[in-house]
Amino acid sequence: MRDEQKMILRDGAALPAVGYGTYKAAGEEAVAAAYAAGYRYFDTAAFYGNEEAVGRALRRYPREAWQVATKIWKTELGYDRAWASAEESLRRLGVDYVDVLLIHWPKRTPDDPDWQRLDRETWRAMEEMRDQGMVKTIGVSNFLPHHLESLFVTANVPPAIDQIEFHPGYLQAETVDFCRREGILVQAWSPLGRMRLTGHPLLAELGEKYGVSPARICLRFALELGVMPLPKSSDSRRMAENLDLFSFALEPSDVERLRGMEETGWSGEHPDRERVIL
Ligand SMILES: NC(=O)c1ccc[n+]([C@@H]2O[C@H](COP(=O)([O-])OP(=O)(O)OC[C@H]3O[C@@H](n4cnc5c(N)ncnc54)[C@H](OP(=O)(O)O)[C@@H]3O)[C@@H](O)[C@H]2O)c1
Repeated sequence: MRDEQKMILRDGAALPAVGYGTYKAAGEEAVAAAYAAGYRYFDTAAFYGNEEAVGRALRRYPREAWQVATKIWKTELGYDRAWASAEESLRRLGVDYVDVLLIHWPKRTPDDPDWQRLDRETWRAMEEMRDQGMVKTIGVSNFLPHHLESLFVTANVPPAIDQIEFHPGYLQAETVDFCRREGILVQAWSPLGRMRLTGHPLLAELGEKYGVSPARICLRFALELGVMPLPKSSDSRRMAENLDLFSFALEPSDVERLRGMEETGWSGEHPDRERVIL
């Protein structure tokens, strides 16, 4: 694997630069098709209800050949619940370790008064899991800078990953910049904006200029900013297309234009606010 095709984490682990998102994708056959297309990193979560299928598909191949990430759902925050959640995830996946474990959201609800204590206790459990070898890398998802700063107060090991919504039109620049300063890898969920961006004139224009689809523009854009995209597709042709990101690069001026795109395509999800139905 060439260097640009890898992401090196602050804990020393190496991940492929592009992962496969399994939310709503993930029958066993879709995951096996993604493996056949070349994906080696698979993003799932207890919440997705597909860990068994993901595990069945991946266990067809040698354990060292792939990496799997799962997440602790927001109702399972706290020391004992986090342990139980992770143990159940490993059981459902049929593995004796996961490569990455993330806290899925920093709060049970936007107005949860107890979120700081719960995050810190969850994190203490995850540090122990890491020490015991059942998890290689620990990280978070949907954490904004103030959630990360709160975790830092008691963390012995800082998070290596923050997985957030990221796509042209919703860059969360403050969080991305904070993570860059702290050496935390940003992973992009909905890197295609779940195709809410289809037909945006700038993506169409750049697609034409580079001779690639708007989806590949979105994914290459993430890579240009050092962000690891996790596209989901159930279609083997699109799975392959979404991995084909190293045969072209965006000119800096085009990266700037994409950075300057108006806010669009946001999912409506935010850790500190009730979900907005758009
Ligand atoms: N941490 C979190 O809170 C969180 C939240 C949401 C998602 N995630 C993770 O991020 C992953 C990806 O996000 P996502 O599933 O929300 O959205 P996404 O990857 O941005 O978009 C998926 C949609 O785009 C379509 N698509 C994929 N490739 C395409 C291409 N080349 N051309 C045209 N359409 C294409 C897919 O349809 P087809 O399947 O028909 O190709 C699907 O409808 C999830 O699967 C999950 O693992 C995490």
